[in-house]
Order: sequence, then structure tokens, then C-alpha cells
Amino acid sequence: MILVVGGAGYIGSHLVKELVEKEEVVVLDNLSTGHREAVDNRAIFVKGDLGNVDDLLMVFRSYPIKAVMHFAANSLVGESVINPLKYYENNVAATIMLLKVMKRFKVKNFIFSSTAATYGIPHVDMIDETTPTAPINPYGRSKLMVEQILADFSKAHGLNYVVLRYFNAAGAHKSAVIGESHDPETHLIPIILQHLLGQREKVSVFGSDYDTEDGTCIRDYIHVTDLASAHILALKALLKGKKTAEIYNLGNGLGYSVKEVIETCEKVTGLKANVEMTDRRPGDPARLIASSQKIYDELGWKAERNLEQIITDAWKWHQRVSGTM
Ligand SMILES: NC(=O)c1ccc[n+]([C@@H]2O[C@H](COP(=O)([O-])OP(=O)(O)OC[C@H]3O[C@@H](n4cnc5c(N)ncnc54)[C@H](O)[C@@H]3O)[C@@H](O)[C@H]2O)c1
Repeated sequence: MILVVGGAGYIGSHLVKELVEKEEVVVLDNLSTGHREAVDNRAIFVKGDLGNVDDLLMVFRSYPIKAVMHFAANSLVGESVINPLKYYENNVAATIMLLKVMKRFKVKNFIFSSTAATYGIPHVDMIDETTPTAPINPYGRSKLMVEQILADFSKAHGLNYVVLRYFNAAGAHKSAVIGESHDPETHLIPIILQHLLGQREKVSVFGSDYDTEDGTCIRDYIHVTDLASAHILALKALLKGKKTAEIYNLGNGLGYSVKEVIETCEKVTGLKANVEMTDRRPGDPARLIASSQKIYDELGWKAERNLEQIITDAWKWHQRVSGTM
């Protein structure tokens, strides 16, 4: 049985939907930002907190866990600057609790959701896993700390783990049953689609004078179903004993500017956005694009879905939940 911590959240619920086809799954989630109804009903759901040792002991005593996938975290960069201890407590201290319980129950396989934010503002156009990590906010630092803890813990206690550093997760399940629902929403594609559905007055673009082709920032968007398939490949490799301590980037390898994303949303929906150009935000690099060559070479994974597919699936889901489809 596989334990998915944070499996009621955006990315976790998409992974669970794929994983239940292959494995028995138990989800542990405190529903702080997740949604109970997003969890596939073939998975067992336990409402509980990663930071609560009794909740963890109950799960590990009740189910024969062979691997843990850890999605649970707080992940708002701005909030992490204002309230860093919340991030170090929930993202780092609670993960230590999980590792302690895994050690006690001799569970040796672990997959961790990390982030492009561990790289900070890199001075290369294409970021690979050898690019130095230098996070610039508590959120990114909390994720890097867990990566470092995993490396030490693995050496001392023999944990086999894979760290997956996602770039910008986006899109929705092709069935439109689950999709991206954060509150507050800070991600570009849902913000544009909410605007096109009349739920926001306008779309603000932060900076149009970057050193890029059209002046707006370039980011790497990855379909959430592609992320799910990377987790399943990583799990397979761990369970077969093929990987012990690996870090992989997960991105499309293709950057899209904010302007291009808005134009693709307009194309997919047939609607025109009201766009407001505003000042740059501090700490926004001009471009962040992932090289995912390493995971392609080692596990045969690559992103299958392009930006138009991402937006098409996200749009179907947004229309369904807003009652316009
Ligand atoms: N969304 C992205 O673009 C992105 C990019 C890079 C990394 N990540 C990482 O991927 C993971 C999932 O992100 P997401 O966008 O799905 O976020 P999300 O907020 O939708 O999901 C997180 C889930 O974890 C649960 N959770 C949080 N703290 C918990 C705790 N103490 N105990 C039990 N459950 C808890 C929440 O209720 C939620 O269901 C996070 O670790 C995030 O940092 C996300």
C-alpha cells in the first residue's frame, strides 16, 4: 500500500487518480488547503495531520505501507516571507516527524515534492540539477532543507528517495472531475481563466520590460497529469531498488512568456482578456526553464502535453465548476 500525504491537494489528487489504477492507496490530509471530494473514492482517506504523531502512528499501524509520497506543504511564497515559522514548522518539522515514524516502521521508499524555488534566481537559461541551489524565500528554503535532511537521513538509515523539483504545475484531469483549486489563487493560468469566466476584473502582468522576446517573464508549465506519471515512474524505480537518492527536475523544457500564456488562453476559450501592465515584482527572474533531460535519460520520462493542452484541460474544469459547461 502507498501512503500519499497531501493527496487531497491539487497535484496529490491527480497523482492518486492515476495511482489507484496500479496500487492500493491511503491518503493522509488535514484538508487545510485540500478538498475531500478531490480524492478518488478507490483510495482510503484519513483526515489527519502530518505534524501529529498520533495520526501518523494510526496510519502506519493500520496499513502495510511500502512507500510514502509526500505532497503536503504550505506553498505560498509571499506568506512564507510574512510567516516563516509556519513554513519551517509545516514543511520541515512535520516532515521530520514523518521520517521518524517511517524509520520506526521500517518504510524505506520516499518521494518528495520539491520545487524550482530551490534554485532562486539562477544565472543560466536552462536549469538542470547541477545548477546551484540558492532559494530566496522561506518557502524555497524549507523545501531545500528537507532535501538536505533526506540526504543525511538516507545515508544514516538507508532511506531510498526521489526528490522531484516541479516547475509550474498547471492543467486539470482530462475528465474535468478534478482541477486546480487554490485559495487564494496565485497561479497564472487559473487567474486568467477565472477572469475570462467573469470572476476577476482583469489580469495583471508584473513587468513588461524584461530581457525576453516580448518583455514579459518566461516560465515552464507542466501538465499535472505529466507530473503524476513522473511520480509513478519514480515509484516503480524505487520499488525495484533501482534508485536510492535522486533529484529530478520536472518541466516541459519549453518556456512560455506571460503574454503567450494569455494569448493561448484567449485562443482556447475564444474570449478576450482585459490585461493591465504593472510594475515588476521583486525577486521575479526573467526566465525559469527546466531541463528534464536527467529523468528522461534515467527513467524515460518526458512531458507529453503542451501549453495548449494544459489550458484546454484547465478550461474544461473551470467551466464545469463554475457551471458554464
Ligand atoms: N503547484 C505548483 O505549481 C507546485 C510547484 C512546485 C512544488 N509544489 C509542491 O507540490 C506539493 C503540492 O502542491 P499543490 O499545488 O498540490 O498544493 P495544495 O495546497 O493543493 O496541496 C497540499 C495538500 O497538503 C495538505 N496538507 C498541508 N499541510 C498538511 C499537514 N500538516 N498534514 C496533512 N496534510 C497537509 C493540504 O490540505 C493539501 O491537500 C507541495 O509540496 C508544493 O510545495 C507545487
